[in-house]
Amino acid sequence: MTTEFHPNKKCRYPDVCPQAHFCMDSWHCASESELIHFKVITHSDVEQFRSVRLDALKNNPMPLLDVYEIEKAKPISDYLSLLSKHVVTGAYAKEKLVGTTFATIFAQPRLSHKAIIWGTYVDQSVRGKNVGRNMQLASFKNLKENHGIRQCIAAVVADNVAALKMNYSIGFFQTYLERDGIQNPNGEGYSDLVHIMKYLDD
Ligand SMILES: CC(C)(COP(=O)(O)OP(=O)(O)OC[C@H]1O[C@@H](n2cnc3c(N)ncnc32)[C@H](O)[C@@H]1OP(=O)(O)O)[C@@H](O)C(=O)NCCC(=O)NCCS
Repeated sequence: MTTEFHPNKKCRYPDVCPQAHFCMDSWHCASESELIHFKVITHSDVEQFRSVRLDALKNNPMPLLDVYEIEKAKPISDYLSLLSKHVVTGAYAKEKLVGTTFATIFAQPRLSHKAIIWGTYVDQSVRGKNVGRNMQLASFKNLKENHGIRQCIAAVVADNVAALKMNYSIGFFQTYLERDGIQNPNGEGYSDLVHIMKYLDD
């Protein structure tokens, strides 16, 4: 799966854009060097994947589930295993990995049409350019077409405005609010979690 989009300037190629289905009103084209594309991260990219994941956990401990110090100590085989167990979609600026989003498909046969979305992260250098939103959309397209997924669930720390806004803008809606749903980093109390879901057909 590879999809591309073009952040920044106004689209110059609306009729020939290979990703016309992503070119809704907010789409903008850019020069070749600014092209972002999305693909499932494979084992050959494990070093970059590890580096981006550790950056994410170090720079943004509050919204993400895992703990930097624990993940940093893990061998590369654990990162290979992460890529095998989950569908991890990456955003690439040229060959540089600048974003990740995880999808965990339920193992039970009767729930295997559903996935949990977690670990969505965009590098600071490309935030606010629709990378997060379109990485999610690329992931959903792959999940639907290649894994038979019909609906996705996720949970967002209640004060994470950026993540909530991004998820609501692509069709997620709140199902319930969980008081004290996640422990804060360094054991400093708890935060509420907003549980959300999205039907991929909607
Ligand atoms: C949340 C995150 C992935 C968003 O990525 P992004 O590429 O900057 O987001 P996008 O550019 O695709 O923005 C999508 C929508 O969210 C909104 N948004 C993004 N960042 C925002 C912010 N800081 N404040 C308010 N709204 C924000 C955008 O305005 C846009 O909506 P709009 O077009 O209606 O204005 C990114 O901020 C991030 O990596 N944060 C740290 C990790 C994290 O919080 N992950 C979520 C775990 S649940």
